[in-house]
Amino acid sequence: MRILLTGAGGQLGRDLQKSLNGHDLRAFDHTALDVADRPAVVRTVQQVRPQWIINAAAFNDVDGAETMTKAAFAINGAGPGHLAQAAAVVGASLVHISTDYVFDGTKGTPYIEGDAPNPLSVYARSKYEGERRVLESGVSACVLRTAWLYGVHGKSFVKAILAAAARGGPLKVVADQVGSPTATADLARAIAELIQTPARGLFHAANAGACSRFDLARAIVQGSVEVLPITTEEAARPARRPANSSLTSVRWQQAGLTPLRSWRSALDAFLDSLPNPAA
Ligand SMILES: NC(=O)c1ccc[n+]([C@@H]2O[C@H](COP(=O)([O-])OP(=O)(O)OC[C@H]3O[C@@H](n4cnc5c(N)ncnc54)[C@H](OP(=O)(O)O)[C@@H]3O)[C@@H](O)[C@H]2O)c1
Repeated sequence: MRILLTGAGGQLGRDLQKSLNGHDLRAFDHTALDVADRPAVVRTVQQVRPQWIINAAAFNDVDGAETMTKAAFAINGAGPGHLAQAAAVVGASLVHISTDYVFDGTKGTPYIEGDAPNPLSVYARSKYEGERRVLESGVSACVLRTAWLYGVHGKSFVKAILAAAARGGPLKVVADQVGSPTATADLARAIAELIQTPARGLFHAANAGACSRFDLARAIVQGSVEVLPITTEEAARPARRPANSSLTSVRWQQAGLTPLRSWRSALDAFLDSLPNPAA
């Protein structure tokens, strides 16, 4: 299949380049295609004429978005809309990636696709606008909400904790935010499976289960340094974050897609794959 990938230089984008290896993949990083540039999106999609467009591009600076509102909405809100319109013109289907942060975190149990979003931050509102633009465009599309991504490439909480632990502890980590850490390698494989099926619509796609950021940090450092719990209030970040944004899916299984493994198995596999600094 001919696939146009946007945001190809990001942590998910890089793993998608691997998982979509067997396809005629046309990968565009930020410099090659700006998803907020409508004429460029239309021109590129018409030149490539893909069967699928996969949008892994995003403005991902959750705190920065509080002051860079215009950029966040142009990239996370308008950008997916441009891709949806361009996809419709050439008869392509679209995969767009959204976030657990569309929820306000008050539910107390994992969120399913039917739960009502109530985004708390500029980043979350811009991402919610992007998913709505795709779903309301009527184009053949899959919108995947995922969470707490990490992988070999790019920046993530997991890599930040590894780096901080290497500098020495103790580490202070927020204990009152719960979510579903997800390996980009697993999500990329899931997307490669999804595009071979007729499944369309909104899906939650995250590694199974949930933990707090504090639990996650302890699983990452494996006792090498001390990890101390702090509250969200003590962390004093500019953007509000949901207390519980853990995801589960009703629709993924209904569509007959392979469930993603537990967050702990995925994390352990990721840590095992890293070069051993002591070796
Ligand atoms: N990271 C998470 O924890 C998390 C959680 C939930 C959902 N998500 C969603 O998952 C998707 C993948 O995230 P990720 O972690 O792989 O993000 P990432 O590593 O930040 O990658 C995003 C990529 O998009 C590019 N980009 C930024 N603005 C662009 C534009 N206007 N046009 C084209 N490309 C642009 C960035 O390039 P530059 O760096 O060169 O600007 C970067 O390579 C995103 O939709 C994100 O919102 C992520």
